[in-house]
Amino acid sequence: MKKDRCIAIVLAAGKGKRMGSETQKQYLLLKGKPMIYYSLDTFQKCELIDEIILVAGAGDEEYCQREIVEKYRFSKVVSVIPGGRERYHSVANGLHAITACDYVFIHDGARPFLTRDIIERSYVSVKKYQACVVGMRVKDTIKVVDSQSFAVDTPDRSALWLIQTPQVFSYDLIRKAYDLLLEQGDEACVTDDAMVAELLLGTKVRLVEGSYQNIKVTTPEDLKIAEVFCPQA
Ligand code: CTP
Ligand code: MG
Repeated sequence: MKKDRCIAIVLAAGKGKRMGSETQKQYLLLKGKPMIYYSLDTFQKCELIDEIILVAGAGDEEYCQREIVEKYRFSKVVSVIPGGRERYHSVANGLHAITACDYVFIHDGARPFLTRDIIERSYVSVKKYQACVVGMRVKDTIKVVDSQSFAVDTPDRSALWLIQTPQVFSYDLIRKAYDLLLEQGDEACVTDDAMVAELLLGTKVRLVEGSYQNIKVTTPEDLKIAEVFCPQA
């Protein structure tokens, strides 16, 4: 029987600059439902998850509460809180909204095609390793380039993974890492949560297989792909 308390932090406080749409991308409709609906629905239906914290853009909390949480009856969403300027500020706000839990699943609201399998695999892994991130092996060759776009290195592809979310941690560990990050104030280079734990605490983060459909909808062409991957809502 599951005894751990698991909380999902779903991030929806971004501005979607690269999408360039009038409506923020997390609220754009996919098969008639807002993009953010899909990952919330997957967390809602997965019994490993006890509660969800939804991080919305500052000022959008009421809209999210009414148009997302109440409309679609996401009973596990216990609070809708404002995010911050950068993604890591939004994550830090989410972590501070939690008083205690065992594991926290940090997920991009712009990744609608999260599956129950991915949650289950990452739960098994985080219990064993305290820190894990979902990702996929890269299919293309990756080159490192200099400032003039000349290739300077071709890293061994078999050692490269593309990182997705959720990124899943023991709560105490990731809370400590984020608190240290904000204390030190040198957060400019942070692009994911695992990096915070790696840099601040030297944590060894385990990779868990995600899915090639677990895309982050970032630019207009991703929306077309998302329409194809989207389950019938
Ligand atoms: N996010 C957030 N708070 C921020 C920035 C991002 O909660 N200050 C969230 C986004 O809503 C998204 C996820 O983090 O679900 C991944 O970010 P990204 O894809 O970069 O989304 P945006 O920041 O909205 O897009 P862009 O960078 O193009 O402006
Ligand atoms: Mg962004």
